[in-house]
Amino acid sequence: MHSRHLIDLSDLSVSELEEITRLACDIKQNTDTYYGACRGKILATLFYEPSTRTQMSFQTAMLRLGGRIIGFDNPANSSVSKGESLKDTIRVVSGYSDIIVLRHPVSGSAKAASLYSRVPIINAGDGGHLHPTQTLTDLVTLRVEKGRFSGLCIGVCGDLKYGRTVHSLIKAMASFPGNSFVLVSTPSLGVPEYIKDYLSAAGAPWVEINNLAEAMPLVDVLYMTRIQRERFASESEYQNQRGVYILDREKMARAKKDMIVMHPLPRVDEITVDVDDDPRAKYFEQTEYGLYARMALILKMTENTAKRLDTPPRGTGTKCSNPDCITHREGYLPNLFRKSGDLLVCEYCEERAPQ
Ligand code: NCD
Repeated sequence: MHSRHLIDLSDLSVSELEEITRLACDIKQNTDTYYGACRGKILATLFYEPSTRTQMSFQTAMLRLGGRIIGFDNPANSSVSKGESLKDTIRVVSGYSDIIVLRHPVSGSAKAASLYSRVPIINAGDGGHLHPTQTLTDLVTLRVEKGRFSGLCIGVCGDLKYGRTVHSLIKAMASFPGNSFVLVSTPSLGVPEYIKDYLSAAGAPWVEINNLAEAMPLVDVLYMTRIQRERFASESEYQNQRGVYILDREKMARAKKDMIVMHPLPRVDEITVDVDDDPRAKYFEQTEYGLYARMALILKMTENTAKRLDTPPRGTGTKCSNPDCITHREGYLPNLFRKSGDLLVCEYCEERAPQ
């Protein structure tokens, strides 16, 4: 891999994405033959936010590879509750393990952790920013269920503002040729500006609409998402947004015969339960593909076992303008920006601000 860590899927080249998803499909067919491939290795799962699938699939993946697991799923039971910084926790756990899977409620936390880790960090969701291993899962689903990553019209519906799975998915799919996007959301839950810029730079056609029924006949893949209740400033803002988009049998009747429905899960009320029986509903298969995707990723990322700590970069001055960026929570972090035209882009959370 050209990067030691997986913070964003851009840490993998398009050919690495192809290779990992191909490997995942082989693991799916021949799971038992991979047992022992990670014997003696330890995977740490540090989950500062709730999770069912991501955490359990990573743990199962390592156990199926013959490795072992450590970690916490409730920071209240760790020294985080005593005020330990992310940096200190990561330095300690990277001394105990060979690879760390981190889920954290704040955007940019995975990038921050990678500055202080002697072992590879996998971003298992950083606030409302990114979720690259869900996208690997989604790519394996597309490989198995559609047989291709390109030439697809992809509908994405729900909370496109805070839905980190959506951000990673759009970034990845825009790098394959011939894909177009129908973005279905209310005006206040549309994709962030940086995602629109990304689509435009990739030359991928996209439209924003607010009517799911209209999108149904157009799409080859429909990616449903829940409204991210925990990211809203108040419960009333969440209540205003919930229940707007519900995929039901009536809407399914408007879709192509070979369209597939995906969802990272958990589902709240955005897909009615009777849609589960439609053969085009692939979200439960998707959860199983996530296991093989993560087995393939762990195999790839533990190939080089040498531990090392790169010298953390130094940077002072400009603060990130995003109040939800990790730089505002962990005060020791260097401010890292890259220039993009007239803008400064925060390397942790991708927020852009004029220079
Ligand atoms: C997603 C997440 O955590 O972002 N869940 C998952 O990892 N499968 C989606 C969600 O919580 O809505």
